[in-house]
Amino acid sequence: MKFAVFVSGNGSNLQAIIEAVKSGEIKAELALVFSDRRKAYALKRAKEAGIPTLCLLRKDYATPQSYERDIIIQLKEMDIDFIVLAGFMKVFTPFFIKKYPNQILNVHPSLLPSFKGARGIKDTFTYGVKVTGVTIHFADDKMDHGPIIMQESFRIAERETLESLEERVHQVERKIYPKAIAMFVEKRLKVSGRRVKILEKPVKK
Ligand code: GRF
Repeated sequence: MKFAVFVSGNGSNLQAIIEAVKSGEIKAELALVFSDRRKAYALKRAKEAGIPTLCLLRKDYATPQSYERDIIIQLKEMDIDFIVLAGFMKVFTPFFIKKYPNQILNVHPSLLPSFKGARGIKDTFTYGVKVTGVTIHFADDKMDHGPIIMQESFRIAERETLESLEERVHQVERKIYPKAIAMFVEKRLKVSGRRVKILEKPVKK
């Protein structure tokens, strides 16, 4: 299986995914890193790892659909089987989602459906919740909305600062996202409506 990782920023999740592919935890080929921002540090990480990159900017297209059509053409040319969003800051239209139904994974830095959106960690911290975590889910055409694959929670400490919370969230992301991707590759995720069942790993004999 071949996959593409979509990024817009730093790429710490991308780095964890690169390492999980290298170690054999994810048994698929990371064939492309796509960015919608030229300055994304994630592009540098991809280049250092020798992974092909592609950067297309939304502003160069008249409509969301023409932008998405161009991306799809490139993905299909490269025989990309599935997509991993890792800090990618755009929501796709139904046109794009229909081309990859339940084949686009996303990571969100809160326990969905709480604190959707681009400022998930900050909003969590400001609200004063006592427990937070990370959600891995399939992406659909609504922001941070598709069927949930995996969540991991933890308590927010009394002395927590926004910075320490960010670090803890990112640590959990880097731990569970590669695991979820590996399960997807092993075809262990069975989607039925909003529910995702995780099938047991076949026991090796
Ligand atoms: C992560 O917190 C992710 O959950 C959110 O955006 C951030 C991306 O971080 N969607 P990075 O670019 O992977 O370092």
